[in-house]
Amino acid sequence: MKDDLHPATRAAQGLGLKCEVTGAVVPPIHVSTTFARGADYELPTEHGYGRDQNPTFVQPQAMIADLEGGADALLFASGMAACTAPFQVLRQGDHVVVPDIMYYGLPKWLRRFGADRGLSVDFVPTADMKALAAAVRPGETKLVWVESPCNPVWRVTDLAAASEITHGAGARLAVDSTAATPVLTRPFEHGVDIVVHAATKYLNGHTDVMAGAVVTKEKDAFWERICSHRQLTGPILGSFEAFLLTRGMRTLYLRVPAATRSAQAIAEHFEGHPALSHVLYPGLPNHPDHAVAARQMTGGFGGMLSFRVKGGAETARTVAAACALFKPATSLGGVESLIEHRGTVEGPDSPTPKDLLRLSVGIEDTDDLIADLEAALDPAQSR
Ligand SMILES: Cc1ncc(COP(=O)(O)O)c(C=O)c1O
Repeated sequence: MKDDLHPATRAAQGLGLKCEVTGAVVPPIHVSTTFARGADYELPTEHGYGRDQNPTFVQPQAMIADLEGGADALLFASGMAACTAPFQVLRQGDHVVVPDIMYYGLPKWLRRFGADRGLSVDFVPTADMKALAAAVRPGETKLVWVESPCNPVWRVTDLAAASEITHGAGARLAVDSTAATPVLTRPFEHGVDIVVHAATKYLNGHTDVMAGAVVTKEKDAFWERICSHRQLTGPILGSFEAFLLTRGMRTLYLRVPAATRSAQAIAEHFEGHPALSHVLYPGLPNHPDHAVAARQMTGGFGGMLSFRVKGGAETARTVAAACALFKPATSLGGVESLIEHRGTVEGPDSPTPKDLLRLSVGIEDTDDLIADLEAALDPAQSR
């Protein structure tokens, strides 16, 4: 496919990849776990064994690398398998810096297994450049991990500034860009080295595939370790999931802008609502990172926002349960809207405010979504 075509075109056409045998515009799902050698006892293609050479991975991996502008991408069995991969390939004694608030699965893994694996981990507010600069240790820090926009308060990290600080200390910068998607932010253009996605979310977009992706700016020695890690531990997708992910990504550039428009409208509509103490959304001018987000994010501020509900955790849970269109379920990035009391999932040790509801805005009609939330918040006003 020609290099000058827009990402929306590249995604819709799946990079123009087709079946070379039949010309099918949807490449087939390969289910074979192994591939026969020829009469010369050579493999006819680069595909030898299904653990990491499944031909069904070729198109989605190429698409993710292309849309991010990276040199290569690898699919993983889930977002968590992708998020932990860069940490799994670090060495004993390596120092890492991660956010103090982020998608809660990663800090849970780091607290449980990081020290056992010899990692030294600092949890700091990575969206604050002074805090980040104070946390990195030149020569000792090997990885700085940020998430932008960051669950569930949607802080946005200035990736260019973070990469300058990180590289100044001789470390790599990785970003979990699940909520931004390549539609709204292309982290490599801001100096990031590794981009990670929970592809379960926006990239797939239909709440029916668990998947993760790690993308690299350069095929360097660190990338080679990540490739080896996947090959030798095997946290891969099934063929059908890889196919579904490809299909989901073809509509990425329709879905993300639609969700983004509605999220902006919902944030503006509910800001100052009497039942809410805060609306957390980087598209609102009063958000602490609005200026950074306006500079760094293209085409909007994403489909994720949070409400802090007056009345605390119990009222928040009641509001989530009272929604009809917003489903009271965990996860994000699908075509259907979801609402969730994060404290219930994250448990008592979580730093997330107990009154916080996380909203994943889907692609339904915006007015219907606003009416649903209005109705759910109404009883909260009278409590
Ligand atoms: C930002 C972010 N990263 C990673 C993950 C983990 O993804 P998965 O559930 O596919 O393992 C999630 C899941 O919600 C997430 O929101």
